[in-house]
Amino acid sequence: MTFDRSIKIAPSILAADFANFGAEIEAIEAQGADWIHVDVMDGHFVPNLTFGPPLVKAIRKHIKTVMDVHLMISPVDPYIDAFADAGADILTAHVEAGPHIHRTLQAIRGAGMKAGVALNPGTPAESIAHVLDLADLVCVMTVNPGFGGQKFIDMSAKIETLRSMIGDRPIHIEIDGGVDPTTAPLVAKAGADVLVAGSAAFRGGSVSNPEPYGENIRAIRAAATA
Ligand code: DX5
Ligand code: ZN
Repeated sequence: MTFDRSIKIAPSILAADFANFGAEIEAIEAQGADWIHVDVMDGHFVPNLTFGPPLVKAIRKHIKTVMDVHLMISPVDPYIDAFADAGADILTAHVEAGPHIHRTLQAIRGAGMKAGVALNPGTPAESIAHVLDLADLVCVMTVNPGFGGQKFIDMSAKIETLRSMIGDRPIHIEIDGGVDPTTAPLVAKAGADVLVAGSAAFRGGSVSNPEPYGENIRAIRAAATA
């Protein structure tokens, strides 16, 4: 994975057909997805449950791009090796998930993955000032995590603050929640380069009718780069 700040669209499989992940991933990559975003929820850190390392490992072989795993779980540390074994390229933990984000980010890199740190809407940019050099990606949540299809919360000021904190360091700024062609320009202008999109990427399409996936991705990318 070479670093660049061009706009990348990362469809979230939270909005795909859960009974058909392999084919859904292959379809959306063929339609232009840059990364695949994988949302892991534990019913404790967030009020919803999705899936764990065995499923993540099973879908790995269908992903040709980048497997971007977003952990909405607490604790994180006991599961880091399992997600490394599952083949995650990037593993993102929430700063709110425990008292030792510094240790967690070190452990993620130590297990051979890129390390991401996610911030809930109520958490300030400054909370990660002292761990930025341990991070390859900062994920700014623009919804309260737990569910797809929620209304976008404008975090432009936080994104701008992070962008200037990061400076020239090779750290991605990812936006997660409510990204669509209307909201993408705001976050791109503020300094984001990775746009997660669940409902706005998968809307209207299916494995047997994948063209809408491509139209959706192109619309988000065009809006973000305009
Ligand atoms: C929310 C998840 C998101 C979600 C985004 O907790 O982390 O990745 O899938 O879905 P949309 O794009 O529909 O808001
Ligand atoms: Zn996510």
